[in-house]
Amino acid sequence: MAIKSLVTGGAGFIGSNLALTLEKLGHEVVVVDNFQFADQTNLKEFKGKVISLDVSTPYSFSSSFDIIFHQAAITDPRYPNDEETFNKNIEGFKQMISLADRCEAKLVYASTAGLYGNGLVPMKEQQEKQILTIYGRSKLKMDEMAVSLFSKRHIVGLRYFNVFGPREAHKGRPASMIYHLYQQMKDGKRPRIFNWGEQIRDFIYVKDIVTANLKAVDAPSGVYNVATGVGTSFNQLVKTLNEVMNTKLDPEYFEMPYDAKTYQANTQGDPTLAEQKMGFKSEWKLKEAIEDYLQWLQKK
Ligand SMILES: NC(=O)c1ccc[n+]([C@@H]2O[C@H](COP(=O)([O-])OP(=O)(O)OC[C@H]3O[C@@H](n4cnc5c(N)ncnc54)[C@H](O)[C@@H]3O)[C@@H](O)[C@H]2O)c1
Repeated sequence: MAIKSLVTGGAGFIGSNLALTLEKLGHEVVVVDNFQFADQTNLKEFKGKVISLDVSTPYSFSSSFDIIFHQAAITDPRYPNDEETFNKNIEGFKQMISLADRCEAKLVYASTAGLYGNGLVPMKEQQEKQILTIYGRSKLKMDEMAVSLFSKRHIVGLRYFNVFGPREAHKGRPASMIYHLYQQMKDGKRPRIFNWGEQIRDFIYVKDIVTANLKAVDAPSGVYNVATGVGTSFNQLVKTLNEVMNTKLDPEYFEMPYDAKTYQANTQGDPTLAEQKMGFKSEWKLKEAIEDYLQWLQKK
């Protein structure tokens, strides 16, 4: 019998990549999404059932599930309605915990590296958290709820770092830097980055994120970083994009427009715990991942 998997936020960036892979692996996949931020075309190759639903509201599913992959969330840290971000993200998570209880399903959910704020790098799961946005607060609350359930059920939280890859275009401004810089550079424009390009990010390819979700199913309950462990500066990123694209475009620097108190200047995750507990190790080096992604973008 096929494994029955539910992917929430399955029409979004990460959810659609995950749903398509699960389907290829033979799972019977149901996607739910309220299509508030999604792109319908992300699911054009998907053959399973798609339910249009706000996961923060109660709903009776007609089938049971073995695994729930909860990706749905208001994901833009600068979304203008704080109350909506917090309430929808928390209520959606509560609904998925109840559903997992009813189905006795495993529950894997998306957390974020955003909750480390401007803390020490490389960021470790147990270090002090620095909440810069309501989005980060909602994810930290989810992690705290998960920890309180470890003794009762299987539940794994994945703190994704800076994800990039196919099917992210609909996100607009919050899409990855790699997506945005590529769009500028392919038109011969200089890549625009914040002064002076020394900020670092732990860029991780969405194919690694899908692998981490698969590994999480058999991992012990816990909250784990999903990171490469490599910090890449904005300047280095531009250099790598120039190499892959065979261009010679110098960065155009501009002042960071956000309040510094809400801006995460550096991210770099410590991937050790995920490797020990989940057997997950990032497989994609930045340059190869960008090459793979650009091939996909160029075919579109
Ligand atoms: N992309 C990243 O770099 C990154 C980093 C850290 C964590 N995450 C987390 O990963 C998950 C997926 O993010 P993404 O980058 O694919 O973003 P996304 O915005 O593309 O996907 C989120 C999806 O959830 C849907 N959604 C939002 N609220 C919903 C609700 N109440 N009911 C049903 N559907 C709802 C949206 O329509 C969208 O399709 C999120 O939980 C996000 O917080 C992403």
